[in-house]
Amino acid sequence: MATKLAALVVLVAFLAGPAACEGTYICFNGWLRLPSILDKLLCPRGSGTRREPVPSPSGSGLSYGYYSTSCPSAEKIVKEAVKKAVDENPGIGAGLVRLFFHDCFVRGCDASVLLNTTNSNNETEREGLPNMNSLRGFEVIDEAKTAIEAACNNTVSCADIVAFAARDASYFLSNGSINIPMPGGRYDGRESFASETDQLPGPFSNVAELNASFAAKGFTLDEMVTLSGAHTIGRARCMFFSSRFSEMNQTYAANLRAECSNNGDTNVNQDSVTSNVLDKQYYQNVIDNKVLFTSDAVLNSTETRTQVIDNADKPGEWERKFEKAMEKMGKIKGDQQGLEIRKVCWRVNNVGQY
Ligand code: HEM
Ligand SMILES: *[C@@H]1O[C@H](CO)[C@@H](O)[C@H](O)[C@H]1NC(C)=O
Ligand SMILES: *[C@@H]1O[C@H](CO)[C@@H](O)[C@H](O)[C@H]1NC(C)=O
Ligand SMILES: *[C@@H]1O[C@H](CO)[C@@H](O)[C@H](O)[C@H]1NC(C)=O
Ligand SMILES: *[C@@H]1O[C@H](CO)[C@@H](O)[C@H](O)[C@H]1NC(C)=O
Ligand SMILES: *[C@@H]1O[C@H](CO)[C@@H](O)[C@H](O)[C@H]1NC(C)=O
Ligand SMILES: *[C@@H]1O[C@H](CO)[C@@H](O)[C@H](O)[C@H]1NC(C)=O
Ligand SMILES: *[C@@H]1O[C@H](CO)[C@@H](O)[C@H](O)[C@H]1NC(C)=O
Repeated sequence: MATKLAALVVLVAFLAGPAACEGTYICFNGWLRLPSILDKLLCPRGSGTRREPVPSPSGSGLSYGYYSTSCPSAEKIVKEAVKKAVDENPGIGAGLVRLFFHDCFVRGCDASVLLNTTNSNNETEREGLPNMNSLRGFEVIDEAKTAIEAACNNTVSCADIVAFAARDASYFLSNGSINIPMPGGRYDGRESFASETDQLPGPFSNVAELNASFAAKGFTLDEMVTLSGAHTIGRARCMFFSSRFSEMNQTYAANLRAECSNNGDTNVNQDSVTSNVLDKQYYQNVIDNKVLFTSDAVLNSTETRTQVIDNADKPGEWERKFEKAMEKMGKIKGDQQGLEIRKVCWRVNNVGQY
């Protein structure tokens, strides 16, 4: 009994990770599924981090063509770096779309997601549960930044590069059908904390939880449904969905079971129909019960079903909503406004000066 309990405690500690529990138990917003007794004990439904809805982001300080005089080649350099990367591996394009989401949802769009753990920045967002061993595309940002610094010193923020890269990746992966208007003018932050990645919604979330985490960033329920459509590209690890094989379409589940072969770290395509195309197929997959996560499947529930059907059926409907919602994502501002234009995207300037 004692050893069993000890094993359970170790398991929970492993699942939770050091960043997930601070003082009181934080339930990590749908990223964790604890054994049911412990779930009730430690994480009663609706506990954990509570975040109130906030008004829509205003985007003050941002404008289109922000660098047209200060660094006219900036956006072109990003576009070329993204094109090269996506041609080689469309998955990197998916990574860039997600990088933008994970940057903007935590402290606003300030490139805090790019900082790696160094002596001056302990346990950054990159070490957070939703990001570790998962985010990709960093080298594309770094490559674009190097080329931009060579063209225009100290002018273009890493946060803007992330935003432009997400726009360009969306364009290439949709074969030009998705054109996100993306203003520039963001600044880079100097702080990044793994623990704050608990603001990102997790794959075990229900509709109320998804709605709450998006409302906390100024998004409506409809926009939450719209943005979820990004799961029409890229990959996911088996550990986030293998508990629900029995709930899926059985043909689909059988294929996934074979792909996963009991290894939780194996990656599979999120959209088995048009894996590398940013299109509305995701919504048909929701209807057909051929999506991976709880957070995907629950969109077929009464509160969100109409939007799912509209997005699946009406040509152009989702694409236009996605463009608007992604632009809005780029306007989220953090508590601490960006303070600088970083010289290197993965570390802050003048370490030790502040
Ligand atoms: C609605 C709540 C959301 C949840 C619960 C969620 C959760 C996840 C999870 C668990 C993965 C797989 C990670 C892994 O296995 O390593 C993933 C992948 C991905 N997510 Fe989401 N996500 C959500 C919303 C979004 C949004 C709003 C976007 C962008 C607009 C997005 C874009 C992506 C992309 C592109 C991938 C694939 C990344 C790659 O292949 O590198 N997700 N998401
Ligand atoms: C972060 O800080 C903690 C305690 O302050 C320390 O134990 C740990 O080694 C540090 N981690 C890194 C990667 O510097
Ligand atoms: C930090 O991250 C970049 C990728 O953005 C990587 O190339 C670099 O090696 C990392 N540096 C350290 C010190 O971990
Ligand atoms: C870039 O700017 C820094 C200071 O702002 C300066 O020291 C450096 O020489 C500049 N580099 C180039 C290539 O202009
Ligand atoms: C991509 O778009 C071009 C021009 O808009 C079109 O000719 C081509 O067939 C499209 N390719 C795919 C795979 O949809
Ligand atoms: C979504 O959140 C908003 C803001 O808190 C709330 O007014 C609305 O009732 C919620 N809708 C659902 C379906 O949970
Ligand atoms: C599951 O998907 C297959 C095709 O992949 C289809 O033939 C079958 O009818 C679906 N099952 C259900 C219950 O809808
Ligand atoms: C989703 O809802 C539609 C009705 O709106 C229904 O026809 C379909 O079977 C549902 N799919 C799943 C997976 O429950």
